Amino acid sequence: MIRKVLGKIIKSPWNAQYTKSVQNSYSNATVTGSSIEGKNVCISGATGDIGTALVRRFLIEKCHVILIGRSEEKLKKLCDQYNVKMDYMVMDLSIPAEIEKVYSDYVKKNRIDILINNAGVWGGAREKKFRNVPVVNLINTLNTNLKSAELLSKLLLEAYKREKNEISIINISSICSQFNSFGYSPYGISKAGLLGLTKDLNVKYGRYGATIRAILPGSVATKMGNIKVGDNIEGNNNILNRPALAEEIAALTAVYASDIGKYCVNNLTASAGEKI
Ligand SMILES: NC(=O)c1ccc[n+]([C@@H]2O[C@H](COP(=O)([O-])OP(=O)(O)OC[C@H]3O[C@@H](n4cnc5c(N)ncnc54)[C@H](OP(=O)(O)O)[C@@H]3O)[C@@H](O)[C@H]2O)c1
Repeated sequence: MIRKVLGKIIKSPWNAQYTKSVQNSYSNATVTGSSIEGKNVCISGATGDIGTALVRRFLIEKCHVILIGRSEEKLKKLCDQYNVKMDYMVMDLSIPAEIEKVYSDYVKKNRIDILINNAGVWGGAREKKFRNVPVVNLINTLNTNLKSAELLSKLLLEAYKREKNEISIINISSICSQFNSFGYSPYGISKAGLLGLTKDLNVKYGRYGATIRAILPGSVATKMGNIKVGDNIEGNNNILNRPALAEEIAALTAVYASDIGKYCVNNLTASAGEKI
């Protein structure tokens, strides 16, 4: 009842229609006061919906963007959309040995200032009941969502720790880390694990100047939530009565990566007010 009333009062300025012009209106000015201009930003899951919004955001912030994806074709297509030079690395993040091989070599030869662990899979657990999730799903989800973030972060932090450079890492967790998402879910477990990783890395590498943060989006208007550009996105279990936009998550990520977000080292919920 309350939600229905709130939904009527808090109307979106764009009639809840998620369009290209809405996307553009969220992505045309710096949100960091240009304070991260020139930084090298590495984004995993760059070809996904939040990933492409992150790429757009960090290009607006005049950063050098380095993409991580598993499909070279998709990565090339993404690079072709912009008139700037971007590096990319092709790797399957569910395979730790592949990360070690491709990424550790890159990190040894090139500098990364900001790492965004954004890649993730839902893992198909919504349809499964407790204890019916196949082990292979569990392992694949944990490897893709958690182990990859651990490895990408560790290799970067170890490579730079002697220099005491201010490396910033942002882990895209989920509100599913906070409650038992859809019964039993490797997804929720992996996202809760990301919070543990965030805290531990801060303890271990904070003294070398690194800052590791996590963002916990609620539903975001992306294909993971079965939403595409052009859809009406009104209706959600939060106070806005709509999911967050990928562009909003991307802007928040940039703020956390900048000096403005320096003291935000604990976990924050991007899309607040979800019904838990
Ligand atoms: N959408 C939401 O409602 C929501 C809410 C909370 C948190 N999140 C989190 O936000 C992040 C981005 O989600 P999204 O909505 O943008 O989903 P998405 O569009 O499905 O993007 C996921 C990205 O991860 C990449 N990826 C998946 N498995 C991979 C693997 N084995 N190796 C390399 N890359 C792999 C995908 O690559 P391909 O392009 O090749 O498929 C894609 O680029 C995820 O971590 C997700 O858990 C999303």
